[in-house]
Order: sequence, then structure tokens, then C-alpha cells
Amino acid sequence: MNKLFSGLLTIFILYLAGCDMGKNVYKVDYNDSHSFAHPKDAVVKHLDLDLNVDFSAKKLSGKVSLLFDNTGHVSELHLDTRDLNIQEVTMGEDNEPTTFRLGDEVAYLGQPLVINITPTTKRVNIRYETSPGAAALQWLTPEQTAGGKQPFLFTQSQAILARTWIPCQDSPGIRITYSARIQTEPQLMAVMSAENPTEKSSDGVYNFTMKQPIPSYLLALAIGDLQFSSLGERSGVYAEPSVIDKAAFEFSDTEKMIAAAEKLYGPYRWDRYDIIVLPPSFPFGGMENPRLTFATPTILAGDKSLVALVAHELAHSWSGNLVTNANWNDFWLNEGFTTYFEHRIMEEVYGVQYADMLAVLSFHDLQKTLTQTGPEHEDTHLFLNLGGRDPDDGMTAIAYDKGHFFLRTLEKAAGREKWDAFLRSYFDKFAFTSMTTEVFLSYLKKALFTTQTQQTEARLDAWVYGPGVPDNAALSESEEFSKVESEMQKWLAGAAANSITTTDWTTHHWLHFLRSLPQGLSKNQMLALDNAFKLSKSGNSEIMHAWLLHVVANKYDRGYAALEHFLTSMGRRKFLKPLYTQMMKTPGMVQMAKLIYSKARASYHPISVTTIDEILSWGI
Ligand code: BES
Ligand code: ZN
Repeated sequence: MNKLFSGLLTIFILYLAGCDMGKNVYKVDYNDSHSFAHPKDAVVKHLDLDLNVDFSAKKLSGKVSLLFDNTGHVSELHLDTRDLNIQEVTMGEDNEPTTFRLGDEVAYLGQPLVINITPTTKRVNIRYETSPGAAALQWLTPEQTAGGKQPFLFTQSQAILARTWIPCQDSPGIRITYSARIQTEPQLMAVMSAENPTEKSSDGVYNFTMKQPIPSYLLALAIGDLQFSSLGERSGVYAEPSVIDKAAFEFSDTEKMIAAAEKLYGPYRWDRYDIIVLPPSFPFGGMENPRLTFATPTILAGDKSLVALVAHELAHSWSGNLVTNANWNDFWLNEGFTTYFEHRIMEEVYGVQYADMLAVLSFHDLQKTLTQTGPEHEDTHLFLNLGGRDPDDGMTAIAYDKGHFFLRTLEKAAGREKWDAFLRSYFDKFAFTSMTTEVFLSYLKKALFTTQTQQTEARLDAWVYGPGVPDNAALSESEEFSKVESEMQKWLAGAAANSITTTDWTTHHWLHFLRSLPQGLSKNQMLALDNAFKLSKSGNSEIMHAWLLHVVANKYDRGYAALEHFLTSMGRRKFLKPLYTQMMKTPGMVQMAKLIYSKARASYHPISVTTIDEILSWGI
């Protein structure tokens, strides 16, 4: 009898575990040291934005109305702001007057805006304007655009910059829907991370709705002389008129990528997937703003060879935008998963050889970062400790490439079929919610690695809470790259540069070649490569960047014009940072770094300026 009872009890407990007892088993702790919000007291659910765009004053001004759940029946609402001018705050549908205060300024975080409310208040209305130096906004003069005739504005809210253009609860663990009315000049088109127009309006007014709940770092706006070109049923591209055809050609495989992604990990839940090509000062390669990826023009290589970036930003529609890191310490849940997923999409669309090359390049990036950071350093843990720091510090190859190799390792241990089913269930189960590292691990243990042996063998804790790369890593090999290495050896052993076989090389072969070259090439060796392969004239930004690192390190003066041109014609931080760093490390190149930077600085985005100022000790 007793036995029967305990047997039934066990079955009952297992049943409860199976249905997760509601969702309580996976309790996400939303504590976020990078936000002043108190979401446990009152949590914002929806924003209504109404903004006027003033290009000459470099200001957005208007109103935001925030709808929130006052679950704690509190009498204060705490929001994040930075460099905002708060003009007036009212409560409720009828704009009842109330008072507010701005707290002390904290580095990176800005100031808390504390609004006095009543326990039944559901809405606050804030009249405000941004400051010309708002870190999320880049205001471009016509000269800084492709067309040269109209100004351009774009936002970049990740990681904690949304608060520099909208007072909000700026934490990735909090999700909101939004509507927006944007008033700009009639010759410009406005687009957002929302349902978008495909034509200019006659009066410069645009209305947007975003019905899927998103974290604040995905709030986005771009305004310029834009044109739309359809890529297929669900996708299209926005760009300035002189760039639109090139962009439409480059991204013509987008529908295939969406289909591949859905086949792998379930439905695309954002209706449309469009891409906007921004002017060259955009500080990132891409930004996964929902429904509308923001992209740098430096991926328009003319041969589609840099479209892994599209696969990456598209993959964020699952990892990141659907299941979101709850905290910036969990950043690898966004970027590691996305890098892994990006490679799987590339494998589906372009084959396994291509994906193998990407994986080897990813491992190189990881090793480089480990060497630079120190293999035992805390910052090489997947789970980060960014308290008191700028969350931007977490944007390293650790989150991306160590995260990617961790998931490859799990895939190998589980077998692809089981692993894919697991990942698909993860996206389904946690869609439109936030995720912590801890909850991910507990779900992994419940749904995939159920035995103690499996868990120990996977070395989960070593990967997540330890430094470096554990020795069970599922490494990658590329036959194509082995060929590149043997050609490189021939050349290093004295064969003429134009005698080595490079005819079938793609951008990735070249990248591997350039990244694997030894340090310290002679002037003659640099000349031989340049003459044979016209590297200083490359039209491919990734190849140019890899080549210029050698130009700087070896002080190859015939490449200086290309170096200066590259650094003054785009502002992508991933390219700027290593080049300026290398110049500062190379005796005799410091002056040149400062000279080029003094010319380029005004055209770089505030995000890149912050980084490069530090490298050059600018203004100190
Ligand atoms: N979400 C990131 C960009 C980002 C991260 C901006 C953290 C601000 C803070 C985006 O998805 C990304 O990873 N972009 C990469 C391209 C990608 C192919 C590795 C970039 O911009 O280089
Ligand atoms: Zn990413």
C-alpha cells in the first residue's frame, strides 16, 4: 500500500515537472544593475510616442505616454533617462498634473526619472526633448550620406541607449508594445522597428505600430531619403536611391534564409523581415531591430560574400528578439545562440564547406580574444559580471564565438536531431519572454541532458562559469582552408606570389590567408602580395581590413593612402578599433593615427567615438 502510494506520488511529481507547474520551475530573476527601473513594483507594458524631428537643432521633441501595470500599488514610477530634457509630466487619460524628480547622474546609466503617481494610476504622459549629443542618435549632414542632398538620422539603442531618446524602463527583461507618430520633413521617409511604409508620405508624418512585445533596446528609428525594393513575399530592402539596386542584389537570398531558419527552429513570428542599409558611419555591422535589420553598407561587396551578417541578424529574430537575455550579463544567450544559428542558416543555404570556413574563422576570433584578454580572465566566462561597467564591454568574441562553440559542443554531444528538437522547443516554450543563463541551464538539464553523466561530460559549468575554452570543445576543420594554408606555405618558402593557386578563392579563403600570415612581413613580401593580388585596392571591406592590419604592423607605406581612405570613409567600430589599436602599438604610427582621427572623428558615431577616444587617449 505504502509502496503503491509512493509510486503514485513519484508519478505525480514527474507529471508536475513535465508540465512545469505553470512556469514556476523556470523562475527568471530580472534584477538588472544597468537600469533604475523597479519592475517588481510597476512594469511598463506599452508606449505611445509622438515625436517631431528637428534636423537643424539635432533634436527629437514631443511626448511619450507609458501604460503600465502598477502591480505593487506604488506611488512612484521609476524610469531610465540619460541626457533628456524632461519638460512636463502628467497622469492618466485626462492629463492630471503631477510632479517628478531626476536623480543623480551615474556614469553610463544616466539619471532615474521618478514620477509621483497614485496606486491606481495606469498611464503617465511625458513631454520631453533629446539633447544634440544623445548617444543613441546620429544626425548626419547631407554630405555624410550616399546621395549628398538630404540629411539622415538613425538610432542605435542597444545596449542601454534607448534612454537617451525615450524615457523608459530600459532593461532587456521588460517587454513593451508600441505605437509612434513621427513628424519629419516631407522629402524624407521614416522607418522603425515596427510595421513600415514603403512610400514617402506627402506631409512627412508617419504612423507606426509594433504589436509584438519587445525589449527597449530594440526600439529603433531611421529617417532619410529612402527607397524600398521588394525581395520577395515577406522581405525587402530600404536604402538611399543610389544604393538600392546594389543592396537588392546583395540581399537577394534573404527569402531562402528565412525559409532555412524556419525549417530549423520554427515559425518567423514578426510578419515581415526587411533590411535597411544605413550610411557608412553606422557603428555596427548589423543590428537586429525587429522587422527591420539595420545594416552597414560595408557588407555590399558586390558578390554576396558578406551576407552571413544577414543570416546573423535574421537569426536574432529567434535568439534575442523572441527569447531575450534578461540581463546584459547573459549577453551570450543572445549572441552565442545567434552566431550558432547564423552558421546553421549558412550551412542550409550555401552548404557545409561554407559553414566550415565560417566556423574556423570564428575559432580564430575566439583565440585572438583569449590571448588579448588573458585565458584565465573573468571576462572570458560566458556568464559575465558587468555590474558597474558599461554593458558594451561584454561585446567581445567570448559571447559570440565561445558561446557558439559551447552550443556546437552540446550539439555534438546530443546528436543533431535531438539538439535541433530541443532548440526548437526552447524557442517555442520561451517565445516573447526573457531568459537567464541559470534558467537556460536548468531547462537544458530537464529537456536534453537528463542524466548526471551527460551533464558532467558536457562540462556545462566549466563552459559557462569558467575561463577559456574547455577541452571538450567541438572544434572545426575546413578542407578549403587546408588548401589555403599549403599555398601560403609555398609562398613563405619562396615561391612567387602570382604562382600560388588562388583562382577559386572566395572572400573567406582570402580572410583565412590574411589572418594566418605571420607577423613581421618584409617590405618586399608586402609588395609582392600587393602587386599580385591588388590588396590595397580591394573593394571588399573585410579583406581590406585584414590587409590593412598588416599594412600598419609592417609599416608598408604604399598602403597608407588606402588606410587613410578606409578610416575616413566608414565608421564601423569592428574595423576602426583593431586598426587604431594596431597603430598605437606600432612605433612611428601614433602620429598618423592621431592625424587621421582628427579628420575622421566628427563623422564617426558617438559609440565609435567613445571607443576610439579611449584607445588614443583623446582629449586627455
Ligand atoms: N546585436 C548586435 C550588435 C550590438 C551588440 C550592438 C551589443 C550593441 C551592443 C548585432 O547582432 C551584431 O552582433 N552585429 C555584429 C555582426 C555580426 C555578423 C557578428 C556587428 O555589428 O559586427
Ligand atoms: Zn548579434
